[in-house]
Amino acid sequence: MCGTAGLFLGCEAALTCPLQLLRSPDAEAADQPYSSAFHSWDEKASVRTAPRRVLESPLPAHPFPPELVPVFRHPLVTQLPEPQQNFLLAQHLYRYLDFTTQLELVVVNGALLKLALQAEYGLSEPMRLDALRMMCDESYHALFSVDMKLQVTRAYGIAAPTDARAWFLTRLERLLCDMDPTAREVAKLLFVTVSETLISASLAEHNRGTAAPAAVRDMLQDHAIDEGRHHVFFAYFAKHLWARLDTAERLHAGRLIPHLIDAFLSADTGAIEGDLRSAGLSHDDAHQVATEIYLNGDVARQKRQAASRTMRYFAELDAFHDGSAQAELVRYGLVEVT
Ligand SMILES: [Fe+2]
Ligand SMILES: [Fe+2]
Repeated sequence: MCGTAGLFLGCEAALTCPLQLLRSPDAEAADQPYSSAFHSWDEKASVRTAPRRVLESPLPAHPFPPELVPVFRHPLVTQLPEPQQNFLLAQHLYRYLDFTTQLELVVVNGALLKLALQAEYGLSEPMRLDALRMMCDESYHALFSVDMKLQVTRAYGIAAPTDARAWFLTRLERLLCDMDPTAREVAKLLFVTVSETLISASLAEHNRGTAAPAAVRDMLQDHAIDEGRHHVFFAYFAKHLWARLDTAERLHAGRLIPHLIDAFLSADTGAIEGDLRSAGLSHDDAHQVATEIYLNGDVARQKRQAASRTMRYFAELDAFHDGSAQAELVRYGLVEVT
C-alpha cells in the first residue's frame, strides 16, 4: 500500500509511483537554494536532548488549563462540579494527544519516509537528511504524547475513550478516496505541508496556559521548538512541490488547500458534544454549548489567524488566483466576507 500509513517500502506501487511526475520542475519556478534549519539538530532536538517529562507531585488541580479549552467559556460548563470539569479538561488533552500521535505516525511520517528515501521526489541530499531527522522528531512526539496520556490517566484517574480516531483522518480519507493515484499523492503532500506550517502556531497557543502540570507544558514546549524547524523545511517544500505541478494540478491544488486547512483546524464537535454529555449535560445543553462556542465569529476569526501564514505561502505561489479556489476560501471561512 502506498498511502497514509507510510508503507511505501516494498509495495508494488513503488514501481509505478505517481510521484514520478514530480521529477521535472517548472523552469520559471525553479528551486531557490535550500537553507537547512537543522544544523544544530543534534544539540537542540527534543529527541536528542530533552528529558522525559514526568508529572510532578503534588499535582495541579487541573490536568490542562481551562483557559485553553474553548467550552470553558460557556457558563453551562463552568457551573459543573470540579470532577466533571476535570473530566472535560482531560478529554481535551487526550484528544489533542491522540490527534498528535495519529498525525505524526500516520500522515507526516508517511510522507517523510518517501521524501527521505525516494529520489523521484527531487529533493537534494541535505533535504533528504532533514526529512530523516524530522521522522525521528515526529516519532518522538508520538512517543511522548502517548507517554503523557498514560501518565495523566493514571495520575488523575480519568480514563480516555478507547477508540479516539482523530477527526482530521476521517475527513482526509473522505477527500482522498475519490482521487486518482497522482492527485491523491499530491494531496497528501499538500496536507503535510499545510499541517506542518499550521502546527507551530497551534502549539504555541497550547503552551500559553499556566494551570496545567509543568510536565504537560514542557512537553508542548519541546514539541513547539522542534516544529519551528519543521515549519522552515515545509515552507521551502511548498515551493519545491509547486514547481513540479502542471497547470491542471495547480488548479486542483488551489481548490483543495482550503479544504485541507479546514480539515486540520476544525474541531470535532460531535466528539466534544459526547464529552459534554458524559460530564452530565443533557443532549440539548451539550449541543447548545458546542454550537455557541464553535459556530461563531470568534472561532472563524481564530481559524483565519491560525491559517494566515500557511495561506500566505500558497498565495505567493499564486495558488488561489482561480475563482473556484477563491470560492473554497470563502466556503471554509478562510477569507473575511464583507
Ligand atoms: Fe511533531
Ligand atoms: Fe513536524
